[in-house]
Amino acid sequence: MSGAGAEPTVAPEEITAKAVARFDATPDPRLREIMRSLVSHLHAFVAEVELTEEEWARGIEILTATGDITDEKRQEFILWSDTLGISMEVDAINHPTSGGATESTVLGPFYVPGSPLRPYGADLAEQEAGTPAWVHGRVLDLDGDPIAGAELDVWQNGDNELYAVQDPDAPDDHLRGRFMTDEQGRFAFRAVRPVPYPIPDDGPVGQMLNATGRHPWRPAHVHVVARASGFESVTTHIFDATSRYLDDDTVFAVKPSLMRDFVARAADDPERPEGVEGPWVSLELDLVLAPGDDGVPVDRGRTH
Ligand code: BEZ
Ligand code: FE
Repeated sequence: MSGAGAEPTVAPEEITAKAVARFDATPDPRLREIMRSLVSHLHAFVAEVELTEEEWARGIEILTATGDITDEKRQEFILWSDTLGISMEVDAINHPTSGGATESTVLGPFYVPGSPLRPYGADLAEQEAGTPAWVHGRVLDLDGDPIAGAELDVWQNGDNELYAVQDPDAPDDHLRGRFMTDEQGRFAFRAVRPVPYPIPDDGPVGQMLNATGRHPWRPAHVHVVARASGFESVTTHIFDATSRYLDDDTVFAVKPSLMRDFVARAADDPERPEGVEGPWVSLELDLVLAPGDDGVPVDRGRTH
């Protein structure tokens, strides 16, 4: 006879099997599949690392802190999803090929709906924000034909590394705006050259990055959501091809097809846009949309 306590009264595998089976009667088949798989993988993780009671208590504390720090302006759950690579994994599964259309990437936590509609060539910056950037191009279909009446929803940071939603000193609509394409599918706006920036790292995600020796930085980019009637909307970024952190973006969101050159221009360049003084840069950008449902893009998390 073995000594008292030598065998567990209920084996871990039995607990897993019971917990998974508890979802067998879920009426919605997709929810049933998701819950069974989620519980089974969570149990496998606990078993694989032989999680201690102290570690699980710490895990609960981290989840609680994530909820506590999240409000209308701060979305720590999205930061977890982004920094653990889940957001880009979901993106890759749902957009396995682009078929020639502009590729998608993360929405991020700084998208604020309801940007002002601005006219062709207007300035995104409502106060001084860095090197002026003239961004111009067309929205095209897969055959290269222009799409008139497409909408671009654009947001970016300034040279203080902040988005307006993070910056108490910036007007609400600073560095964001919506633009419509003209009959030739053309759009243009004045932006500023974006700069690399750290994601918010003063919360639980920052603690994780710090404890694991990871940095919080993202390469310089401008965010765009492009929508047009009869076309699939795309949520994407345009990355500065010369930026730092393209190889180790903390949220894994860089795709080579989304890198572009911001071309340096002299102050006396004859193509200088009205109102621009001193050195500036230009960015030529064509966006390509696939035919499809023009519903709003799946909101992978927004700040508001
Ligand atoms: C952003 O690009 O705005 C962003 C994306 C993921 C996490 C944090 C910020
Ligand atoms: Fe960003």
